Parts: sequence; structure tokens; C-alpha cells
Amino acid sequence: MPGLLLALLALLQAPRPKYIPTPPQQPLPFSHKQHLATGLECKNCHEMPEPGDFAGLPATAKCMSCHSAVKKDSPSIQRLAEYHKESKPIPWARVYRIPDYVFFSHKEHVTRGKAACETCHGPVRDFDVMRKEKDTSMAACMDCHRTSNAPITCDYCHDQR
Ligand code: HEC
Ligand code: HEC
Ligand code: HEC
Ligand code: HEC
Ligand code: HEC
Repeated sequence: MPGLLLALLALLQAPRPKYIPTPPQQPLPFSHKQHLATGLECKNCHEMPEPGDFAGLPATAKCMSCHSAVKKDSPSIQRLAEYHKESKPIPWARVYRIPDYVFFSHKEHVTRGKAACETCHGPVRDFDVMRKEKDTSMAACMDCHRTSNAPITCDYCHDQR
């Protein structure tokens, strides 16, 4: 019964049930849609400092380069200015997170893997509120590695344990 076996295998490898992308509560009402409409690019705010594992989040100084003038009377911009004055990073709630025991490099995926930000994060340009649009489970990583002929051996993504 190779048909049944194949069906069972497919079931085992199917991605886990789709999660509902409920956005977390954020300290300021930041909109990607509004900011990308000003002509900014992803890399202007997400700089990927060497070695490029992380995409990083912008410092308040970056925000204040506009908001020391733009909308400075808005209550949320006043809160932003407060964080900046006290040299406190904005306590953004994380949307995407994988465990520390998994190797993952943004730079490698964008350069060697030729993946677009949107492939893994969805249509960010249309988001008023950032939400987890794409799956980052092991099954999801494996799916793309299979279709793009990238390795899927355990030690490619994990320490030998
Ligand atoms: C003006 C600066 C700015 C620009 C430009 C920008 N971002 Fe962001 N991004 C932020 C800030 C601030 C946050 C944290 C707040 C939030 O999650 O909305 C964030 C959060 C994110 C997150 C979620 C991070 C996490 O896991 O918590 C992703 C993914 C992201 N941005 C992708 C992008 C992509 C893709 C682009 C380009 C299409 C882009 N951003 C352009 C400022 C920016
Ligand atoms: C191959 C999939 C993939 C691609 C392509 C990708 N990301 Fe990510 N991104 C992730 C994963 C997975 C995480 C969670 C990383 C972690 O927890 O260490 C993440 C996290 C982030 C974060 C949160 C901060 C951080 O570094 O952990 C930001 C911001 C972000 N990505 C922006 C971007 C931008 C901008 C691009 C395009 C230049 C991009 N991503 C391309 C998968 C991807
Ligand atoms: C290139 C200039 C620029 C940068 C850099 C920038 N913003 Fe903005 N921001 C704008 C513009 C333009 C608006 C829309 C103003 C309007 O509604 O007329 C805006 C709107 C906002 C609003 C909504 C304010 C309100 O009351 O409607 C918030 C919150 C905000 N930005 C936070 C941030 C944060 C946080 C950063 C840094 C991560 C940032 N901005 C970086 C230009 C910028
Ligand atoms: C969009 C497709 C895609 C997705 C999604 C994806 N990868 Fe990759 N990944 C690639 C490609 C392509 C390469 C480059 C392979 C090569 O150069 O032979 C790569 C390379 C890697 C590398 C080696 C790069 C390095 O740092 O040396 C690791 C580790 C890795 N991926 C882990 C992950 C993990 C973990 C996830 C899920 C969170 C993931 N990948 C999701 C396509 C993807
Ligand atoms: C392409 C990258 C990739 C490869 C290859 C990979 N994994 Fe994973 N693995 C992940 C990611 C990402 C997670 C974390 C998923 C999450 O919980 O967010 C994970 C999680 C795990 C966990 C923890 C599961 C849990 O629920 O606690 C185990 C165990 C594991 N992997 C074993 C393996 C084994 C065994 C192999 C080889 C057959 C393997 N992995 C190959 C990316 C990978």
C-alpha cells in the first residue's frame, strides 16, 4: 500500500495548524504603511549590523530625525520624545522569534538565499499594525529549504545535541 504510506508521510510532514496572527500590544502606534509611504526603505530602519544574524530595530534617534518636527504635538510622539530624552529603548513587543538553539542569519538569507523580506514577513508595506503573517516553525523552514535545494540536515540549523 505505497499510496497510504505516502499519504501518511505527507500528513507527518504537513505544517502545523495555521496560527491566527493576533498582533501584540505595542507601546506606540507605529505604522509600517504610513512610514514606507514616506519613501523610506526597510534597510533605513533595519540595518543588519555585522555579522548580519539580526535585522535589528531602529534607535529612537532615527525616529527623532523626523519627529523632532513632524507631529510633535501628538501624544504618541511626545511619548517617543520622552523615551529618546531618557535614552531608553522603546520596549517593542517582539513579533517574530525563534529559539536561541536554532541558527539563523538574515544576511545569508537575503544575500546567498536571495530571499525578499516579504517572503518571510508578508506584505509589510500594507500593514498599519505589524503581525506575524508567516510561519517560522521548523516545518516552514524545511519546506523552503527543500524547494530551494538548501540543506535540511539537522546540524545545518541546530547544534549537535
Ligand atoms: C521608519 C522605520 C521603519 C521602516 C522603514 C521599516 N520598519 Fe520594520 N519596524 C520598525 C519598528 C519601529 C518596528 C517595531 C514596531 C512594530 O513591530 O511595529 C518594526 C518591526 C518590524 C518587524 C517585526 C519585528 C519583530 O519580530 O518584532 C518586521 C518583520 C519588520 N519590521 C519588517 C520590515 C520590512 C520588511 C520593512 C520594509 C518593507 C520595514 N520593516 C521597514 C521600523 C521600521
Ligand atoms: C528566510 C526568512 C526571512 C527573511 C528573508 C527575512 N526575515 Fe526577518 N526574521 C525571520 C525570522 C525567522 C526572524 C526571527 C529571528 C530570531 O528570533 O532570531 C526574523 C526577525 C526579524 C526582525 C526582528 C529583529 C531580529 O532581527 O530578530 C526584523 C526587524 C526583521 N526580521 C526584518 C526583516 C527585514 C527588513 C528583512 C529583509 C531585509 C527580513 N527580515 C528578511 C525571517 C526572515
Ligand atoms: C522620514 C521621516 C520619519 C521617520 C524617520 C519616522 N517617522 Fe514616524 N511619521 C512620519 C510621518 C510623515 C508620519 C505621518 C504624519 C501625519 O499623519 O501627517 C509619521 C507618523 C508617526 C506616528 C503616528 C503619530 C500620530 O499621532 O498620528 C508615530 C507613532 C510614529 N510616526 C512613530 C515613529 C517611530 C517610533 C519612528 C522610529 C522607529 C518614526 N516614526 C520614524 C515620519 C517619520
Ligand atoms: C525563502 C526560503 C527559505 C526560508 C523560509 C528559510 N530558508 Fe534558510 N536558507 C535558504 C537558502 C536558499 C539558503 C542558502 C543555501 C545555500 O547557500 O546553499 C539558506 C541558508 C540557511 C542557513 C545557512 C546560512 C548560514 O548562516 O550559514 C541556515 C542555518 C538556515 N538557512 C536556517 C533557516 C531557518 C532556521 C529557517 C526558518 C526560521 C530558514 N532557514 C528559512 C532558504 C530559506
Ligand atoms: C532548516 C532549519 C532546520 C533544520 C534543517 C532542522 N530544524 Fe529542528 N528546528 C528548526 C526551528 C526553526 C525550530 C524551532 C521551531 C519553534 O519552536 O519555533 C526547530 C526545533 C527543533 C526541536 C525542538 C522541537 C520542540 O517542539 O521543542 C527539535 C527536537 C528539532 N528541531 C530537531 C531537529 C532534527 C532531529 C532535525 C533533523 C532531522 C532538525 N531539527 C532539522 C529548524 C530546523
